[in-house]
Amino acid sequence: FQPKVLAGRRVLITAGPTTERIDPVRVISNRSSGKTGYAIARAAREAGAAVTLVSGPTALNTPHGVQRINVESARQMHDAVMAHAAAADIFIAVAAVADWHVANASDHKLKKIEGQAVSGPPALKFAPNPDILADVAQMPNRPWCVGFAAETENLHEYAAAKRRRKGIPLLVGNLAQESMDADTTTFILFDDAGVHPLPRLPKTDAARKLIQAIAHRSPQHPPA
Ligand code: C5P
Repeated sequence: FQPKVLAGRRVLITAGPTTERIDPVRVISNRSSGKTGYAIARAAREAGAAVTLVSGPTALNTPHGVQRINVESARQMHDAVMAHAAAADIFIAVAAVADWHVANASDHKLKKIEGQAVSGPPALKFAPNPDILADVAQMPNRPWCVGFAAETENLHEYAAAKRRRKGIPLLVGNLAQESMDADTTTFILFDDAGVHPLPRLPKTDAARKLIQAIAHRSPQHPPA
């Protein structure tokens, strides 16, 4: 039995990687299965929320009852999130968003001759992507924002600093090497009160625990 701790609340979630085009058949991306974000979307729905999931490319099925919006690039994800953020009570940024896009992406497939490139390997130029979470966290009527930090080392230090830099009430840290491609994860919650480690859990259970933590910390829906 799961209490409906998010009944009546609207939750917006990003998940998966983004892909950034090099040309029509090639992309660069971040490694992300989307499992954690999808598990959180499912848990939020189970908890009674109306859930919108803005997803980069993944191989996962849409959780039952969740509205899914498919995007490819970080800029598309930014547009989709901005179009829905004002209507959300809670925003959970789980996506592994590419930090850069290819500024000199080609409209046609870059060609090579077998064994010998036409003009050598392409020289890619990169330009920064918008920070979706930071932009939502600065909205005047912002939803209650939750961020993620997947780090390979110095997790506590980086996560606490990231929470302050992004200006958000809750940040979830995890170790990338333990969580990536895995079905289990170890969440560490960072908030104003300090650091709250959760045990290593299947992602479905970690997601449910996180939804409980969010429900307890975020403001209740104003009475109708
Ligand atoms: O800055 P960094 O990428 O380490 O922060 C990670 C957090 O910020 C995650 O919650 C991620 O979903 C979010 N993020 C974002 N837009 C970006 C980069 C990160 O929403 N361009």
